[in-house]
Amino acid sequence: MIHASIAVDPAFRVGPVRRRTFGSFVEHLGRCVYTGIHDPAAASADEDGFRGDVIDLARELGISTIRYPGGNFVSGYRWEDGIGPVTERPRRLDLAWHSTEPNTVGVDEFMRWSAKAGTEPMMAVNLGTRGVQEALDLLEYCNVEGGTYWSDRRRANGAERPYNIRMWCLGNEMDGPWQVGARTADEYGRLAQQTALAMRMIDPDLELVACGSSSSMMPTFGEWERTVLGHTYESVDYISAHAYYFEDDGDLGSFLASAVDMDHFVESVIAAADLVRAQKKVSKRIHISFDEWNVWYQHRAESKSPTGSDWPVAPVLLEDRYNVADAVVVGGLLISLLRHTDRVHAASLAQLVNVIAPIMTEPGGRAWRQTTFHPFAQASQLAKGDVLRVEVQAPTYETKRFGDVPLLDAVATHDPETGETVVFAINRSTTDELALAVDLRALPGLRVLGATSLSNPDHLWAATADDDFSVAPVANPTAAVADGRLGATLPPVSWNVIRLGR
Ligand code: AHR
Repeated sequence: MIHASIAVDPAFRVGPVRRRTFGSFVEHLGRCVYTGIHDPAAASADEDGFRGDVIDLARELGISTIRYPGGNFVSGYRWEDGIGPVTERPRRLDLAWHSTEPNTVGVDEFMRWSAKAGTEPMMAVNLGTRGVQEALDLLEYCNVEGGTYWSDRRRANGAERPYNIRMWCLGNEMDGPWQVGARTADEYGRLAQQTALAMRMIDPDLELVACGSSSSMMPTFGEWERTVLGHTYESVDYISAHAYYFEDDGDLGSFLASAVDMDHFVESVIAAADLVRAQKKVSKRIHISFDEWNVWYQHRAESKSPTGSDWPVAPVLLEDRYNVADAVVVGGLLISLLRHTDRVHAASLAQLVNVIAPIMTEPGGRAWRQTTFHPFAQASQLAKGDVLRVEVQAPTYETKRFGDVPLLDAVATHDPETGETVVFAINRSTTDELALAVDLRALPGLRVLGATSLSNPDHLWAATADDDFSVAPVANPTAAVADGRLGATLPPVSWNVIRLGR
């Protein structure tokens, strides 16, 4: 048995729990849109062809924002193709995923879906093959009341009221050589600045996201952020961060420590943004929109796009099946995002359905939950009030990628109004139970309202359409409070949630 401790004290407040931390992402990629959110053949399909079961699962996940329509897809997208009568919409080549885009779903359909799912849209504009004018046209279509060409087109298409979309992404991963229309930091920085200034002439209060590096592994990481923010600092609110993790060649120890990398990444982006702040001698701070994060096995066959003359509609792409260890890593990444709530103001689990997703569907058939569904749903539903820094005291283990890493990772939230306090914790040990001791002396009178653990003797267990229930969070009866101290035993390779209240 490993022994580890944390202290939960409302004095150690990092910042508020932000609903936008629990965003997701719907890209025109593989089966995310077609047969994912939209599938007229499904039994649960509504009058718009949207799957009711997927909407229910998105609500159960507690999704806040949804980034749309890409991703790499947006860099070749003509948004006007997706409006007006569906039968008149063009079919186009999607170069990003070597697919055919039928344009059955476009901005109006997506906005209807978003309203039904109770999510906030986060719209991306194409700064790959397009520029300032097309971004302005889309903004006019979405946010202008009426009386102009594009706003009246929207009204004619059935949306009388403007969509009033607040968050806008200025392109996607513009440093990536794979990106259609990839640019240098100076080229992109200038274009993003011009686009941001022009968009604010229509709607000054937009919240704008400039593209950060497409990953911390890019050779220009850091310098890209500095240059792009050098151009855009006064005109944008966020810089984006993207990170995907996977178990590399059986190195489970490093994989379970993925949050160490996310912590370092976030802190490096903050450092770059704050350097520009210091250089510009301004008080404004730029925050992070961590608008793509997840576990993604990019080298597997299911992530390879079609090739040659094969340009299918909605092919099976990026359909990773997640096991219990993947779910524990997703839990660890949520802990990392929460503990940086002072600077990470929005995040998007990439993606929502079928494509590296917590929700899976069969075309015309069942919808089901992957293992990664559970930590996200629990954190989204239960994290309320303030995020508290907890000082983890735990033995370490040696990892190939990150050196010595604590076996425990944890964060806590505390709702000052209800007094409800929640501890989110992962045990990274692959062999041993972990005896967690939580010092609660700063919050007297708390008792356990509920405790769950997600684990399995076989951490490779993955859900299927036939069985997405036999491994799920189950009650952890070991959690109890005595003498101002919470004790709980956390199984090896586990995600744990302990709710405390009076
Ligand atoms: O989420 C899948 C892809 O990953 C996105 O399209 C792209 O932005 C990133 O590289």
